[in-house]
This record gives sequence, structure tokens and C-alpha cells, in this order.
Amino acid sequence: MQNLKGRDFITLADFSPEELRQLLDFAHYLKQQQKMGLACRPLTGRTLAMLFHKHSTRTRVSFAVGMYQLGGQALYLGADELQLGRGETAADTARVLSRYVDAILIRTYSHELVKELAAAADVPVINGLTDLTHPTQALADFFTLEEKKGRLAGLKLAYVGDGNNVAHSLLIGAAKLGVNISLACPPGYEPQGEIVAMAREAAAKSGTAVAVGTDPREAVAGADAVYTDVWTSMGQEAESAARRTAFAAYQVNAALMARAKPDALFLHCLPCHRGEEVTAEVVDGPQSAVFDEAENRLHAHKAILAAVMR
Ligand code: CP
Ligand code: NVA
Repeated sequence: MQNLKGRDFITLADFSPEELRQLLDFAHYLKQQQKMGLACRPLTGRTLAMLFHKHSTRTRVSFAVGMYQLGGQALYLGADELQLGRGETAADTARVLSRYVDAILIRTYSHELVKELAAAADVPVINGLTDLTHPTQALADFFTLEEKKGRLAGLKLAYVGDGNNVAHSLLIGAAKLGVNISLACPPGYEPQGEIVAMAREAAAKSGTAVAVGTDPREAVAGADAVYTDVWTSMGQEAESAARRTAFAAYQVNAALMARAKPDALFLHCLPCHRGEEVTAEVVDGPQSAVFDEAENRLHAHKAILAAVMR
């Protein structure tokens, strides 16, 4: 067992496939314990500070509840209400919070801000979503995929839509964990080249394929799971009309799902917009695993917290 105590959780790229494997195994164990009604409280007396610059339902609640279940407590801090919102630096905020709490979760716009906070903090910093990545989501997604399919190695995950933060973390995670990943994004909305290159490098080591194209039908052909996310992410609201036009042919509907394997799962990080990126028929249909996926944020986050907090 690798010791992950004191580690930041900022991008899946910082973790080896073995470390990610260990976190997934730990999440499975913690879920089993919880389902059997067995308490597991390794974080008694510990506190997590949760800084949010953006809205959240799942991330906020699952991290808070995860801390309580592990014996600790969570402190929600609207980042704009902190002195951080009045010009105190991220570094000073990190130094001060490190004197009070045992880990910091942050959801914000700038990935650089999270790195800055982590560089100055003496406690682990967890990325609860930036404009660039959403690693806690991807860990829970691979956990869900493994739980439902009984394995990860050799599966094909198709992602249709925006090459955004969620797509970036899925790309890195898939390549590290041995999942083939195929993306279809409208021209101009592809994932960042640096992230694709990083994923391809990891995929070369794990022996998997990373495909990035523009054709949703090609991406989902024979897939074990089809994933999509909103067309307009938080912070991009001014672009929403243009995005609705650009993504119109990228809706996950029954006809598209029919191109995947008959037992393919439908996944979505949520929140979703029925009638935009996914039809109600698909997200509320028998192949959809979105609420188990949302539940699994709790178990995956508990694994991260218990692994990195001292
Ligand atoms: N999927 C996700 O991160 O959900 P929230 O925005 O509700 O946290
Ligand atoms: N891509 C979305 C994910 C929300 C959980 C966003 O950043 O808004």
C-alpha cells in the first residue's frame, strides 16, 4: 500500500496507475463498510475547509457528509466571503488555513489558483473542479464503471460533447487506468492539446487507445459507456446561445445510444439539461447510471480524504 498521506489531489496526472488503483480499492472497501452499517472513523477530530467560488450540490454535500462519516467535520467557506475575496493572497490564505484545518477542498475558476494555494499550504489541497480539470469526479466515474462492469481494463468509454474540465480528467484517468477512450467534440471545442498529449503518453504505457474526433456515431460505436456533460460550463454563460448551435448534433439520444453496446451505461457528472446534451429518455432510462454515479462521489471522496489527510 502506497502512502498518500500529505499528498495534494489536484489532477489525476499526479498519481501513478497503482496509486489510482489503490484509491479505487479503498473506495470499494469504504462503500461496502457503509452498506453493512459499519462505522469507519479514521478522521476523528480532523477538519476539512471547503472553499467554493462556484455553485455545487454533489461535490459540496458529498465531501461534507464524507468527512462526517469518517469522524471529522467540514467547514463550508464561500470563497468570496473570505478575505481572499478582498485581495488577501491565495498563499496567505493557505498558510492561515493550514494552522486551523487538516485539508482544503477548493472549487474555483483558475487551475493556477489551486496550484498556488497548494504550494503555500502545509495541508493537502483537493481540487473540487477548476476550468481545466475535475479529478474527484473522474475518480468516482471510474469507480462506477468498475462497479457496474466488474472491470476497467479494456473497456471503451465514449465521451460526446465539450472537451472541458470533465473530459480532461476522464482522458487522463482512462489512460492511466487501462480504459480506451474515444471523444467526439465539435470543431473548436476539442480538449486541450497538452492534456491529450499527456493522456496519449499514459495510454502508451497502459496499452490503451485515446481517440479524439468530431463524429459522435464513430465515438460511441461499440462503447461500454457513453458519457456527456453540459454544453455550457460554469463561467461560460455568455456563450450559451452559440454553444447550443455548435453542439446541436452532439445530443446523446436513443439513436446514438443504439450505436453503443446493448448493455452500455449512460454516465453524466450532473447537473444535466434534458433536451440539450441528453434526452430525458436516455438519462431517465434503464441504461442510465447517473444517480449511482452521483452516490459514488461520496465513496470516492471518502477514499481521497482518508488517504491524504494526516
Ligand atoms: N458533478 C458535480 O461536480 O456536481 P456539483 O456541481 O453539484 O458539485
Ligand atoms: N463542466 C461542468 C461540470 C459541472 C460539474 C462545469 O464546469 O460547469
